[in-house]
This record gives sequence, C-alpha cells and structure tokens, in this order.
Amino acid sequence: MALSLPLAPLRRRSNLLIFALIFVPCSLLVLVSGPDLSQEQVLVQRLAELQARLQHLDLMHRARQEEVYVLSQQLGQLLTSGDANASSPLLSAEARLVLRNLTGLALTQDGANSSSVAGGQLLRLPSVYHFLPHLMDNPLSLRPAFTLSRSRSGVSIVMGVPTVKRELQSYLLATLQNLLDSMSVEEAADCLIIVFVAEVDQEYVLQVARQIEEQFRDQVESGLIEVISPPASYYPDLDSLQQTLGDPLERVRWRTKQNLDFAFLMMYAQPKGTFYVQLEDDILAKKNFISTMKSYALQKIADKSPWFVLEFCQLGFIGKMFKCVQLPWLIQFFLMFYNDKPVDWLLDHLIQSKVCRFDKDAKDCKKAKSQLWIHYKPSLFQHIGTHSSLKGKVQKLKDKQFGKVPLFYPHSNPDAEVTSDIKNYKQYSLVKAYRGETYFWGLLPQPGDHLTFTFKYPVRLKRYLFRSGNAEHPSDRFYNTTVEVMPDSNLVNLSKNDFNTTSDGFFIVGKFDSLGVAEGFVDSKLNPVKAIRLNVHSDSENWAILSEILVEAASGR
Ligand SMILES: *[C@@H]1O[C@H](CO)[C@@H](O)[C@H](O)[C@H]1NC(C)=O
Ligand SMILES: *[C@@H]1O[C@H](CO)[C@@H](O)[C@H](O)[C@H]1NC(C)=O
Ligand SMILES: *[C@@H]1O[C@H](CO)[C@@H](O)[C@H](O)[C@H]1NC(C)=O
Ligand SMILES: *[C@@H]1O[C@H](CO)[C@@H](O)[C@H](O)[C@H]1NC(C)=O
Ligand SMILES: *[C@@H]1O[C@H](CO)[C@@H](O)[C@H](O)[C@H]1NC(C)=O
Ligand SMILES: *[C@@H]1O[C@H](CO)[C@@H](O)[C@H](O)[C@H]1NC(C)=O
Repeated sequence: MALSLPLAPLRRRSNLLIFALIFVPCSLLVLVSGPDLSQEQVLVQRLAELQARLQHLDLMHRARQEEVYVLSQQLGQLLTSGDANASSPLLSAEARLVLRNLTGLALTQDGANSSSVAGGQLLRLPSVYHFLPHLMDNPLSLRPAFTLSRSRSGVSIVMGVPTVKRELQSYLLATLQNLLDSMSVEEAADCLIIVFVAEVDQEYVLQVARQIEEQFRDQVESGLIEVISPPASYYPDLDSLQQTLGDPLERVRWRTKQNLDFAFLMMYAQPKGTFYVQLEDDILAKKNFISTMKSYALQKIADKSPWFVLEFCQLGFIGKMFKCVQLPWLIQFFLMFYNDKPVDWLLDHLIQSKVCRFDKDAKDCKKAKSQLWIHYKPSLFQHIGTHSSLKGKVQKLKDKQFGKVPLFYPHSNPDAEVTSDIKNYKQYSLVKAYRGETYFWGLLPQPGDHLTFTFKYPVRLKRYLFRSGNAEHPSDRFYNTTVEVMPDSNLVNLSKNDFNTTSDGFFIVGKFDSLGVAEGFVDSKLNPVKAIRLNVHSDSENWAILSEILVEAASGR
C-alpha cells in the first residue's frame, strides 16, 4: 500500500508521455499526408475516443487514490484517538511513527501536544452512509447478491437494463434479442449489457438468470451480457418512507426504489466502460445503435461540447447516455434525494442546478440546459408493450421521433386454403396474413385450436417460419404451440417411429420458442406435404398475433 501510493501517479504520467510521444507525431503525419476529409474525421473521433478513455483511466486512478485517502483518514482517526489516551496507547510507539508517516500527520513527539498543528480535529467528508445509514447494518449491502459475469471491462458503451417482476408478460428476453440483433459483430465486442434484476427474491433472480443463460449462451460466455441483483440490505424499509410530493404511498415506494435501483446499477457499471447508457426492459433499438451513439458522443467531445446527457430517446430515462466519469454526480444526487422525487425529475434538477439562474426566466434555463442535455434525432429507441410494471399504470407513451416500426413482414407463400379455429379481431384475418397483406390477430387461443394451411398442390417444403407478437403487442404470442405437417401419404412410405405424430396423423416438426418464433427445416422424408398447421396446447391469457408467415418451397415441386 505504502509503495503503490507514490508510484501510481508516476505510471499515469508515463502513460501520458507515451501517448504524446507515439500518438501525436503519428497523427500529425497522417494529417499532413492525407487531406481526405473523412479520414480526418475518423482521426478526430479516434482522438476524442482516446481522450475519453484517458479520462476514464484517470477516474479509475482517482478512485484508487480515494480509497487510499479514506483509509489513511481512518488510520489518522485511530492515531488521534490513541493519542487521546496517552496512559494506555492503542498502538506501539513504532507503529504510530509508521502511521504518522503514512497519513501525512506532521511529526510530533510521542505523547503529542493536542493543541499543536498536527493534532487538530480531522474533518470527515459526508459519504453515502449519511443518506443511507441502514447500509452500515450489513457489510454486504453494497455488493450484488447475485452476479453472472465474465468481468468484461474497458468497453466503449455499457448499457444498464433494469428489470423487475411483472404481473403481466415480461419483454426482457425479446428486448435483449432485439438489442443483439441490432448490433454488428464489432459493436458487440465493444459494449456490455448489464441486466439488473431489481428483485431480492433469489428464486426469481435465478429463474431470470437461467432463462438468459439458456437463451443467450454465447453472449453470456463472451461477457457481452451480465446479470446482477441487489442484496435486500441495500434498500431501506420501503414501508416507512416519507410520503413526498403528495403522492400515494405505493407510488412513493415505486419511485424511491427506482432511484435506488438506478444508483446501484450505475455504481456497478461505472468502472466498466467509457460511456453509460440507461435502457429499459421493454424497448426496441435501431440497427447499429451502438456505433451511432458512440460516434455522436465522440463527435461532441471532439467539438469540445460540455455535454452531460446525450438523449437517444425522448421517453423517461430510456436511451440517456452519460460519461462514466460523470456518473458519480448522478449517483450521489439519486442517493441524496431518493425519497423525494422521481428519477427523471432528479436528472432534470441536477442539470438545472448546474446551469440555471434564479434571476433569469424559464426560457433562459431551457436554453442553458440544452447545452448540457443534447437531443439526438431521430430516436434510436422505442417503447414496446403497453403495461408499466407499476400495477395498473398503463404506459402507452411512444417516442414520435423513432419513426414507424413494421408490424408485420410479408412473404409470398404457396397457394393454400387457410382455416383458423381462433376468431380474428377486426380485419386481421389469417387469410390476409398468409397473403402478406397484414398480420393475423386472434382472440385468446384455446387448447386444440388449429391454424391450418392446406396447399392447393402438395409442396416440397424446405423451411418454415412463424413469428408471433409484434412491436406494439409483443406478448400476443403463441405459447405451447407446435408446428405440424401432413405428408402427401400417397407418395411416402414412413416409419412413424422416426417422428412424433399426433393422433390425427400430423407429424410434429417444430414449436414456438420463448421469444414466440417457430422456425425450421422439414425433413425430406416427410415431403411433399399436403398441409402445415399450428396446434395450440395450452390456454393463453393473451391474444395471439402472427406477424410473419413464411412457407418456403424447395425449388421445383
Ligand atoms: C483509556 O484507557 C483506559 C485504561 O485502559 C480505559 O479505561 C479508557 O476507557 C480509555 N479511554 C479512551 C478514551 O479510550
Ligand atoms: C518517517 O519519515 C522520516 C522522514 O520523512 C524517516 O526518517 C523515518 O525513518 C520514517 N519512519 C518510519 C518508521 O518509516
Ligand atoms: C502545546 O503547544 C503549544 C503551542 O505550540 C504550547 O504553548 C504548549 O505549551 C504545549 N503544551 C504541551 C503540554 O506541550
Ligand atoms: C415401404 O416400407 C416397407 C416396410 O418398411 C418396405 O418393405 C417397402 O419397400 C417401402 N417402400 C418404399 C417405396 O420405400
Ligand atoms: C418426440 O418427442 C419427445 C418428447 O418431446 C422427444 O424427446 C423426441 O426427441 C421426439 N422424437 C423425434 C423423432 O422428434
Ligand atoms: C403444453 O400443453 C400440454 C398439454 O396441455 C401440457 O401437458 C404441457 O405442460 C404444456 N407445456 C407448457 C410448457 O405449458
């Protein structure tokens, strides 16, 4: 400890020196030899990136320094309290001497003069414990209760995805899938998704973690996706909160917990990357959103803009980007006022406190704020679903800047007679959906319901894809539903032992997965087929949407 203290700043300085020695001449060379504007822009961004990373390293270094400082302060306390009882000192004279040297307390004779310069009262900085004294009851209260992590760090963008138990359908898996689908390989290597299961019920946390591990094995393995949960001791008694803003207690409880949740997630995320982006568990993202956000942020840094928030979605706290080095401001603010205001108000207040004046009007404040809080258009994120996890609070807010989201994906399918046991809602019939004119939207599927496509001529089926749910109604999916085909029995000679069949002679070829998609190839032994159908096995609490129907015939019937 004593040795690493003076060395660390040296190391940092030498880092800087290396940067200066290697990078600056290289970049000058490139600038001189390549007048290409786009190349220059790339360089400017690269410089901004290095600058941002350096800032981050600096912060990490400062955090270590802070730890040492706090430790030395505590040692100092020990030392002075030892001094106070000179008749029986806590520490040997030798130990005190070492401590004095370490803590920077001026050397005084042993059995010190307490009114001298060195013996003055040590001041204490306020800490998180002043705002959350209950954290001291348990030494583990600032450590995740559950962690599924490969400790990825040093990425450009860390995303926080808080999720809570919902009484209605959860969109978490669909959201994660969408985030992954919207990233390139390079983007996936340069970011980190932290799923924060904000529940203290370990059973439930494990269940979510298991689902994520099953569904996204590779991404968990590579460290791209992490799952954490908070310990119960992190929260104060949520039943004895102050009822603030005249809100009902349930709402106060909900928004208080959200403040604490965000603070926990940000504290965990802060050392892992350069930028932090707050997301939610029920969103859609635009393609390549990672590079878009990163290059926008770097451009702003290159432009010397003093931004605090970059906003990539206009809704609540979704798509708000911060520099990880600046998260401590936000975290501290949330922890100070967690019982007083909702989290998005606190963010607004923090910015106001930074730049607004009492002696100017709201318009002036708005203008000043817009320098630190920059909106990016069009939005990169959109809400899906209509239910907020606050019971009964239906949340239909949509970001108008996001643009139109496709609600179905049309295909041209082989001629078929289409029948459905599930009654369709309005004009959203299966016939039209099969033709690619709209999506199918059916009321409450029941066990034994069939959606059958009987081909005009037997078809050699290569591949099928049925996608249920859509962006507006992601939980209107098919659950526990199989895909089955009826071979053209005149032509085939099959051993039924090789396949699972239904009592009415259909062969089961697939089923809908937990994301509401059924996709697969059809064994050539079963071809050609007369019909393909969906067979529902369980009651559903949701209606059901088919937003994509693809029946792909092998070329040449
Ligand atoms: C000082 O030492 C005596 C004897 O060991 C003990 O009774 C007393 O509590 C100590 N006082 C303080 C302030 O530590
Ligand atoms: C404390 O520091 C002084 C000089 O700064 C040095 O002479 C002395 O040996 C140090 N004592 C210990 C115990 O490290
Ligand atoms: C403590 O220091 C003050 C000022 O340096 C001095 O006047 C006083 O006599 C000292 N007291 C003792 C007990 O050493
Ligand atoms: C049909 O199966 C039977 C019994 O497995 C076999 O004897 C017969 O040769 C098969 N016919 C064709 C056309 O494969
Ligand atoms: C038939 O279904 C059982 C149980 O779902 C499964 O384990 C088995 O692999 C299936 N067999 C075939 C040939 O698909
Ligand atoms: C699917 O339905 C079958 C038949 O009702 C039932 O036995 C099975 O438990 C269901 N599976 C799931 C995952 O709900």
